[in-house]
Parts: sequence; structure tokens; C-alpha cells
Amino acid sequence: MATFIVLLGPPGAGKGTQAELLAENTKLAHISSGDLFRENLKNQTELGKLAKSYMDKGELVPDDVTINMIRDRLTRPDCEAGAILDGFPRTPTQADALEKMLSEFGSRVALVPYITASETVLVDRISGRWTCRAQGHIYHQIFSKPKQPGICDLDGSELYQRDDDKAETVTKRIRVYVDQTMPLIEYYRKVGKIIEVDGMQAVEKVTNILLSALKK
Ligand code: AP5
Repeated sequence: MATFIVLLGPPGAGKGTQAELLAENTKLAHISSGDLFRENLKNQTELGKLAKSYMDKGELVPDDVTINMIRDRLTRPDCEAGAILDGFPRTPTQADALEKMLSEFGSRVALVPYITASETVLVDRISGRWTCRAQGHIYHQIFSKPKQPGICDLDGSELYQRDDDKAETVTKRIRVYVDQTMPLIEYYRKVGKIIEVDGMQAVEKVTNILLSALKK
């Protein structure tokens, strides 16, 4: 059966960072809903323009649009063995839809690592984050510096700061997370899928904890 992992956690907890590393280690696909929206925005698609109007305010893109985008992504061949889902689902409606989609493929969510961090740490991380323009690789001006300032180590593309990483939008994103996404912790805890991981540890330590949980 294909393996689907859902990474839960507040903005800046390290979901994207860990998803990249887990995908590299497990060879599963990395699906980031935020990256898919940003890719659409870069390509000036209607979906990208619609998503931007919500992302700029720190709000969630409507469920139906998001679910359709993920459904489409899950049918690509690189998801045959499974995927690491980063940023999806984010509401109970999205979680129900995911369950339905995976059952159509004869699969289900295997594990839901919930990465935690204090609000001060989240804000520090997001304000120092640099993202690669080409493929969304993630850096930090202090904790995870690129070899050459402003350039991605992996593909040489420009690093930029996300529009939704401004202080006032970050506060809103954290509030939206508490109101709309935190109920998923209980949703997955009830079915025994949650493992809680302290995301304030070093990146490699968090990765090792996640990899050993996946092996089990
Ligand atoms: P999205 O792109 O998903 O953003 P997010 O969930 O808010 O999460 P972030 O990307 O900010 O943080 P992260 O946890 O991935 O942390 P990262 O690894 O980068 O969503 C953006 C927007 O898109 C949403 O607001 C919404 O509008 C829309 N959207 C997306 N999905 C949606 C959905 N399903 N439904 C509706 N709307 C949706 O790390 C942060 C920084 O910390 C980096 O600089 C990194 O280098 C550093 N770092 C990471 N780990 C560590 C560590 N252990 N120690 C030190 N530094 C670390």
C-alpha cells in the first residue's frame, strides 16, 4: 500500500524543511499546498491569482479549490508509492476529502507528525526565512544559511522573502492556524495517527525522530 504522511504544525514550525528531507530519504513525493499555490501565482494562472487574494491576507484558500488542486496533484505518477503532504489538509473538510481520495486509491494516511514550536520561535523563523524562486527550497538567514548569500545551493536560483511573511500577516496566519487547523490534531489523535515532535530542536534531530517514527 502507498504511504501517505501528513505533516501538521503552525506556520514556521518546519514542515517544509522536514518534508524536503523526508522526501529525499524516503523517495516519496513532497506535496506542499503552499508551493503549488505559489507556482500557480508565478505562472499567472487563475488559480494563482485567486489564491494570492487569500494568501496576502493570511487567510486560507477556499476548501473546494484547494481540494481539487491536491486531487489533481495526487494523480501524478510520482505519487504511486505515496507522498509527504505539507500544508494539506488544513481544515476538517479537507481531511475528510483526503480520506476519501486516498480510499479511492486503496490507501489511507499512515502517520501524522505534529511539529510544535513556541510563537516567538515561529516569528523569528519566518522573519528570517529565504525561499528559492525556482523550487521553493528553504533557508534561514541565521539557522540555515545558503553558501552564497541570495543564491540557492541546490539549483542556483534567486532567494526571496515571501509576501505573506510580513509581521502582521504572520500573526494572522498563526491565528487562522489555531482556529481552523488545530482541530485536526484531535481529528487524527482519535484514530491514533498523531505523533508529537518538538520542532524547536535542531533540524537534523527532528528529521531523525521523524524517520525512526516512519520506520515503525
Ligand atoms: P504554506 O506555504 O503552507 O505556509 P505555512 O503552513 O504557513 O507554513 P510555512 O511555509 O510558513 O512554514 P513551515 O512550517 O513550512 O516552516 P519552514 O520549514 O519553511 O501556506 C501559505 C498560505 O497558502 C496559507 O496562509 C494559505 O493562504 C495558503 N494555503 C496553503 N495550504 C492551504 C490549504 N491546505 N488550505 C487553504 N489554504 C492554504 O521553516 C521556517 C523557517 O525556519 C525556515 O527559514 C527554516 O530554515 C527555519 N527552520 C525550520 N526548522 C528549523 C529548526 N529545527 N531550527 C532552526 N530553524 C529552522
